[in-house]
Amino acid sequence: MKVLQFGATGQVGQALIAAGRGKLSLTTLTRAEVDLTDPAAVRAAVLAADCDLVWNAAAFTMVDRAEAEPEAAFAVNATAPEAMAAACSERDVPFVHLSTDSVFDGQTDRPYVEADPARPISVYGRSKLAGEAAVLARPRTAVLRVSWVFSLYGRNYVAFMLELGRTRDVLKVVADQYGSPTDGEALAAFMVEAAPRWAAGGAGDAAFGLFHFANAGETSRFDFAQAAIARDPLTRAHLEPTTQAAFAEAAARPPRSPLDSGKLARVFGFTPQPWRPAVERAADQLVLAWAAPAR
Ligand SMILES: NC(=O)c1ccc[n+]([C@@H]2O[C@H](COP(=O)([O-])OP(=O)(O)OC[C@H]3O[C@@H](n4cnc5c(N)ncnc54)[C@H](OP(=O)(O)O)[C@@H]3O)[C@@H](O)[C@H]2O)c1
Repeated sequence: MKVLQFGATGQVGQALIAAGRGKLSLTTLTRAEVDLTDPAAVRAAVLAADCDLVWNAAAFTMVDRAEAEPEAAFAVNATAPEAMAAACSERDVPFVHLSTDSVFDGQTDRPYVEADPARPISVYGRSKLAGEAAVLARPRTAVLRVSWVFSLYGRNYVAFMLELGRTRDVLKVVADQYGSPTDGEALAAFMVEAAPRWAAGGAGDAAFGLFHFANAGETSRFDFAQAAIARDPLTRAHLEPTTQAAFAEAAARPPRSPLDSGKLARVFGFTPQPWRPAVERAADQLVLAWAAPAR
């Protein structure tokens, strides 16, 4: 199985590299190799690659900055995946892309399913939704929507909260935003397992289309942070609940955007575990990694 991967340095990109080791022949492309703001370079990279499958772990993920830089956000999150999917379809190679719960407005009283209407309330969300539509317009494409991703890799909420917990006495955490944390390592392991199915799948295969992928259950940002910090013996922070409004960020966030992963379970037989043990495992691993002497 040969896979071409856009994005090598980000959180999910690194998790995919680790999960694919020994299981896939993975060719990764960094920004220095292919800048996603250059659709011709994106197309050329796909056409030149010797691969059975292409996936994209790169994105413009700076949600607040996207408000001030909509062209850059749309170039990376919409035009680039469109170019990837078009080049893949030219070669009849399947393409797998990642998206976000930020395509929803957060006005819901139950976890979102794939058929729910997307109404993004930020530039980031609109750019990701445009990318989804462009990708899904092509045959043999899959889009996995994930939310609140955490792992051992990159800058992520669990790592960030653990760091702050060690440096602050009081940590104010948003308690009125709800969602489903997503274990980035479980996501990567799933994608590696599913790769042969995508590679072999014909145009009408149920493995293609839109899927939600998140750990089971819903939580607030506050309880998410608390679950991680409670694992760290070196934390000194006391957590205090605050509101999203108190942060005055540039981009609006959906107040409630849990994802229902039932379709993933039905099609792939894969059910992500409940969010809390997954967060605790990642926090334990990060604490252990930080305790290890630097090599
Ligand atoms: N993290 C979350 O909580 C979350 C939540 C929902 C959905 N998602 C989605 O999950 C996917 C993976 O996110 P992540 O957390 O792994 O993001 P990340 O850690 O921010 O990584 C983003 C990656 O995109 C690359 N990139 C950005 N602009 C580029 C450009 N112009 N050309 C080439 N590469 C570029 C970055 O490269 P550099 O290192 O060179 O900047 C980096 O490798 C994305 O589709 C994201 O929308 C993430």
